[in-house]
Amino acid sequence: MSNEPKPVTVLDLVRMKREGRRIVMLTAYDALFASLVDEAGVDVVLVGDSLNTVLCGEETTLSATLDQMIYHGSIVRAGVRRALVAVDMPFLSYQVSIEDAKRNAGRVLKETGVQAVKLEGGANMAPTVRALVEIGIPVIGHLGFTPQSMHALGGYRVQGRGEDAVKRLVADAKALEDAGAFSIVLELMPSEVARRITEAVSIPTIGIGSGPQCDGQVLVLHDMLGLNPGFEPKFLKRYAELADSVKQAVSAFGADVREGRYPDESHSYDE
Ligand code: KIV
Repeated sequence: MSNEPKPVTVLDLVRMKREGRRIVMLTAYDALFASLVDEAGVDVVLVGDSLNTVLCGEETTLSATLDQMIYHGSIVRAGVRRALVAVDMPFLSYQVSIEDAKRNAGRVLKETGVQAVKLEGGANMAPTVRALVEIGIPVIGHLGFTPQSMHALGGYRVQGRGEDAVKRLVADAKALEDAGAFSIVLELMPSEVARRITEAVSIPTIGIGSGPQCDGQVLVLHDMLGLNPGFEPKFLKRYAELADSVKQAVSAFGADVREGRYPDESHSYDE
């Protein structure tokens, strides 16, 4: 019998919601981290356009390009054996026309080998989601704080405050489900709002900064590993402090080199 794990599918994730099993999603941007999170058992690896801020030092996700997402999608895919891999559609790759969205999301699946794309927006994006699903492209929606609309939303802030806003979010979630999305990321909203959305749809919701009642949770890997110590929102739990470890290791290496302690005989080759 093969040792290859059974890959997670879109249907598995929908079944997990029905069976009350929580879904674990993390971002990864390269094959090495992707293989580590996959071996640690995450269900979904997201190649988020957050890579533009986390890896590239940009202020927002807005300048991420389709080629960038395809490159990172393909190297993440190379590192994963079990998890479902999804790639974020970057800003302007799907908003201008449905034809653009089909061509660009099609390129993502074709050129990376990942199983799904994620795009931001609610009822306004439902026709686009339907068109992608109709040509066989699985789609994850994204509601609440949608980073590509950061300027229109007035910055990084909690969404869904007030009954009108809540009703709009619930309607958006239902529109995405009706259009064929198989899951929805809920970012930065009160727990009660995420609970109402989660109960209103039969597809799984994956929360980030949206409380414990979602069907799953996602974090940006570099944030939860403490590699990005300047980013400290209330919702973030750090499971390691790798920035400190990296700095300590690098300064120990520097001191060893400067003092002539490295390399010693044990790290050197005989003739
Ligand atoms: O880009 C990203 O990493 C995301 C997650 C925060 C959900 O969209």
